[in-house]
Amino acid sequence: MKIGDQHYRSLWWHEPSYVLQIIDQRCLPHEFRVQDVATMQDFVDAIAQMRVRGAPLIGATAAYGMALAMAEDPSDAHIESAWHTLNATRPTAVNLRWALDRCKAALLNTPTADRASTALALAHDLADEDVAINKKIGEHGLALIEEIATTKPPGEPVKLLTHCNAGWLATVDWGTATSPMYHAYDAGIPLHVWVDETRPRNQGALTSWELGNHGIPHTYVTDNAGGHLMQHGQVDMVIVGTDRTTRQGDVCNKIGTYLKALAAHDNNVPFYVALPSPTIDWTISDGVRQIPIEERDSKETTHIHGIDTSGSLNTVQVTPAGTRGGNPAFDVTPQRLVTGLITERGVCEASEAALAAMFPEHTST
Ligand code: MRU
Repeated sequence: MKIGDQHYRSLWWHEPSYVLQIIDQRCLPHEFRVQDVATMQDFVDAIAQMRVRGAPLIGATAAYGMALAMAEDPSDAHIESAWHTLNATRPTAVNLRWALDRCKAALLNTPTADRASTALALAHDLADEDVAINKKIGEHGLALIEEIATTKPPGEPVKLLTHCNAGWLATVDWGTATSPMYHAYDAGIPLHVWVDETRPRNQGALTSWELGNHGIPHTYVTDNAGGHLMQHGQVDMVIVGTDRTTRQGDVCNKIGTYLKALAAHDNNVPFYVALPSPTIDWTISDGVRQIPIEERDSKETTHIHGIDTSGSLNTVQVTPAGTRGGNPAFDVTPQRLVTGLITERGVCEASEAALAAMFPEHTST
């Protein structure tokens, strides 16, 4: 997507120096900083510290991590150890394990001498596939937004609400929840997006930055505002992303998503989840009991990161010194609260039968 007039992906391979380059999301939206990811420690740091973040993007990043590992040492033992090192960086988004499993299976079937080139080609493929998937999600989501637009007087915006950043920064391009928004805006449908701040990491600021760069009108609101906005008819549709969706359609996404789903349910507001198929964990059914929820550093809740009045990136403390902070990073929205899943193959209900019908190749696993 665009930053000013220039098109960017959220990561790219820099062939001359043979390194991955990322946009360091810890500095956004205040500073645009490109960072080389050149060693295994860099990969671990980039994912764990959320320099790259969002389920699809950490999957793609990990695939490049496997490519680096194969360039260093293409042995079977190193495939195994790189898999474990990268998989341990973040526990909740299943795209990480999905990408690593796919790399591992392909590499174990490749002669040692070809593993470095195969791993790099596979990482490029995974990145390109992510872009294609998200584009399709945008096309299917556009149809839902178009339908709402037909119920409105000409010129009146379709009012959307989103949580966290399931935007192009969280993927290789397009985003998942934002892709329908970009498609709708480009199709000339008037939009207004309520952007949840998404404490503690304030990924809403990333979403505001993205939407602003695309020209989409939006308002950044506190996480607690959503229920009130829905009660007052200010939200036509909620669209969020997901880090792991079970085969019965329970959706695990950024902490606070569940509360938005409850409020949407109580107010008859459609609640859609943009779902790329690599985010489906076909091995589990009950999201509340079976999805591991990342517990992040409590300092992320007791402190806040941003730009100070002198223009420097800084962290300040919000709570009294010594206050204990709790920081579960994700929650699970049960399928009964989800109106529909917007996948790359079309929109379906959040149920085991509907997901199996949409992705029949997975029903035997
Ligand atoms: O902790 P984060 O910022 O990696 O969490 C990201 C989210 O929760 C996104 O909504 C999700 O990964 C979907 S991204 C297309």
